[in-house]
Amino acid sequence: MYDFAPDADLPAAERYRQLADAADALTSGESDSVANMANLAALIWEFVPGLNWAGFYRMVEGELVLGPFVGRPACIRIPLGQGVCGTAAQTGETQLVEDVHAFPGHIACDAASESEVVVPVLRDGQVIAVIDLDAPDKGHFGTDDAAGLEKLARRIADRI
Ligand code: SME
Repeated sequence: MYDFAPDADLPAAERYRQLADAADALTSGESDSVANMANLAALIWEFVPGLNWAGFYRMVEGELVLGPFVGRPACIRIPLGQGVCGTAAQTGETQLVEDVHAFPGHIACDAASESEVVVPVLRDGQVIAVIDLDAPDKGHFGTDDAAGLEKLARRIADRI
């Protein structure tokens, strides 16, 4: 049994540090990227409060394709440059969106989503995937979430 449950009162930076350590431990020595992304999505879900969706889109032949996630069924393919995920993948930059309805071209997969953060995962300078988190309230994510997820992305880039 894996029990990585965080202390709910931890400051965000410490919570993300523990998440990155748990992610490292859970994927260490495992080469199957699907298994690792599935466990990472489940870990993010446990460590980050108030989510309605958490998971991966992978770069496959020039477009994003749905990967392992926790949440409601989602759009399968997202062209580069489209939506929040496609923008993160095209620019290689984190997208921190306080209100998804104000983001041009936002792709609504779960009608409950109100805010979103998408962090690219880079390997050898190339975007290989994005980590996407959605929340059902506006302004749910801040720069501490973006920074924590960017560190996580660096930590797991060679495990997915
Ligand atoms: N909202 C995303 C699509 C993915 S879902 O949120 C799971 C976007 O605009 O790219």
